[in-house]
Amino acid sequence: MSEWNALAYDTGYSFVWKHGIGVLDMLNPQPDERILDLGCGTGHLTHQISQAGAEVVGIDSAPDMIDAARRAYPHLRFEVADAADYVADAPFDAVFSNAALHWMRPPSRIAAHIAAALKPGGRLVAEMGGHGNIQAILDALYPALRAVGYESPKELNPWYFPSIGEYAALLERYGLAARFATLFDRPTRLEGGEAGLRHWLDMFAGTFLAPLDVTQREQVVAQVERDLRPHLCQGDTWVADYRRLRIAATREE
Ligand code: BEZ
Repeated sequence: MSEWNALAYDTGYSFVWKHGIGVLDMLNPQPDERILDLGCGTGHLTHQISQAGAEVVGIDSAPDMIDAARRAYPHLRFEVADAADYVADAPFDAVFSNAALHWMRPPSRIAAHIAAALKPGGRLVAEMGGHGNIQAILDALYPALRAVGYESPKELNPWYFPSIGEYAALLERYGLAARFATLFDRPTRLEGGEAGLRHWLDMFAGTFLAPLDVTQREQVVAQVERDLRPHLCQGDTWVADYRRLRIAATREE
């Protein structure tokens, strides 16, 4: 996704960074450390890392997100940068990432850049969508897209949701040894009541929906809502079937 609405993201989806606080505990930033926050969004967790006294750099490929982060935390360093191309000016003690790595492609190039950004012995601490994440939503989206003429909707999927084994093996190829990994369900309530799922689709599923005209788009969204209501709607609240992969790895000396 390239066009983020930073304000809507910050107000309606604050759970994204609030859930990241658990990963931050795992990071356990120290005062003398230099830390890279990969896919920092609007910068709230970057700020929390800085509160521990660490020197932190937040990068994100979305200029709107970086603008919002700079406005909120003008004393911190934020850069518009793609993780697939980012070259650090000095190595980091840790790379941190929350709810961002699943947007970044290609995964092998991202892993290579993470490894290159770390000092020997440095650590990666990250949480992302894991294998099976939003599977029910995808399983409803694909047939709805086929019904409006997409032949291969899976090819439009912008996300990378690896299993523990797949991601640990990928990191190892770039000299990062997995020390801890867990895959767990995190059913996540969506803001907006009855409209929560369509707001989520508007915000995050642009790759699938943007090419559609208004009528097709409504047809797809209405079919997805109809199919998922018995599974993901509780009263008037939608609960997305998030599944997280949390991982810590260290760069071999
Ligand atoms: C996630 O955080 O798992 C996620 C968010 C938006 C789209 C897809 C996945």
